[in-house]
Amino acid sequence: MKLLVTGGAGFIGSAFIRLMQGSAEPPRIVNLDKLTYAGNLENLESVAHHPAYRFVQGDICDAALVDALMAEEKPEAIVHFAAESHVDRSILSPSPAFETNLRGTFTLLEAARAHHIGRFIHISTDEVYGSLEAPAEAAEDFPLNPSSPYSASKAGSDLLARSYFTTYRVPVLITRASNNYGPYQFPEKLLPLMISNALEGRSLPVYGDGLQVRDWLYVDDHCRAIRAVLERGREGEIYNIGGSRALPNLEVVRKILAATGAPESLVRYVEDRPGHDRRYALSSAKIMCETGWAAQVGFEDGLARTVDWYRRNSAWVERVKSGEYRNYYARNYDQRESELRKTAGTRGRAKA
Ligand code: NAD
Ligand code: TYD
Repeated sequence: MKLLVTGGAGFIGSAFIRLMQGSAEPPRIVNLDKLTYAGNLENLESVAHHPAYRFVQGDICDAALVDALMAEEKPEAIVHFAAESHVDRSILSPSPAFETNLRGTFTLLEAARAHHIGRFIHISTDEVYGSLEAPAEAAEDFPLNPSSPYSASKAGSDLLARSYFTTYRVPVLITRASNNYGPYQFPEKLLPLMISNALEGRSLPVYGDGLQVRDWLYVDDHCRAIRAVLERGREGEIYNIGGSRALPNLEVVRKILAATGAPESLVRYVEDRPGHDRRYALSSAKIMCETGWAAQVGFEDGLARTVDWYRRNSAWVERVKSGEYRNYYARNYDQRESELRKTAGTRGRAKA
């Protein structure tokens, strides 16, 4: 088996490559990654010298590069992770999400069509379903209702990918996972941001009232699900992948305080995210029934493993939190805290 993996230097892509290269019969993997702020070759040190692994730095929007790589490597399948993956960044600057998530996916689909790819696994997200009122759960045929530039660009790329199956019979399979967490996650997402800040004694910025609900999926469980879809999924189908553990953000933050031993006084309520989705919920019955996959890592266990990893890898955290990260942090959080201070009198719940 020969795979072209895009975005393999990011959080989930690197976990997928480590999982596949650690298997009994590792496939040949070509990893195409632009190395944006989120791409980090340190995440792949354990496989970098594997004889069946090759890294190519490049942009999935570069049609000539993608075409040449397809002609040279002749992969049997593409597993497409590369994306601008963060909602807050897509709100601050939507253009990269549009370029990579839509144009980049289009470029890969065109190459897949021209080179008669055997399988195209498009990695998507439960955020395409938008916010759901309890107790609803989205199955794969639930209407798409994305709220942020990020989720809209992912929904658009899902529709484009589906159209390549319907129109050109490109063997596309789509996965839609819930919120991932685990080692090597860039500290812009909720868990790594809160864990690393708690370990450093920095404040923990909770958006709005902190009662938004997310379903949490340990990254290795997600990667095992993607492998199951790659091996046993049906072409043209969509597969939801959830962790079956829905929690309000505040509860997650409290568990992080307990796991890190940080004091509650670090919690800061800050101005809410514009267009913030209140609740995500999805049903994973289809992938469980068709492939036999089930999540293996419970949230408390996964959180303990993750906190332990961030504790032991403070040098990794320090490196990724230097440079560009500081500008991002100031852009995203300084304004939020000061907006809240302005309205604190009327809201009466500011701790900033
Ligand atoms: P990430 O931000 O950690 O990594 C993205 C990777 O893509 C980086 O290595 C980056 O360098 C690369 N990349 C970005 N633009 C590129 C381009 N134009 N060309 C080539 N490479 C490029 O993201 P992640 O959290 O690992 O997410 C991976 C995928 O999974 C994304 O498609 C995302 O939408 C999806 N997803 C993520 C989550 C989550 O909780 N993180 C949940 C469900 C689905
Ligand atoms: P995030 O990890 O960005 O994932 P997504 O928005 O894609 O689900 O955020 C998860 C939840 O945590 C979401 O409700 C927003 C909230 N959140 C905070 O309250 N504070 C933060 O600093 C961040 C990054 C997120």
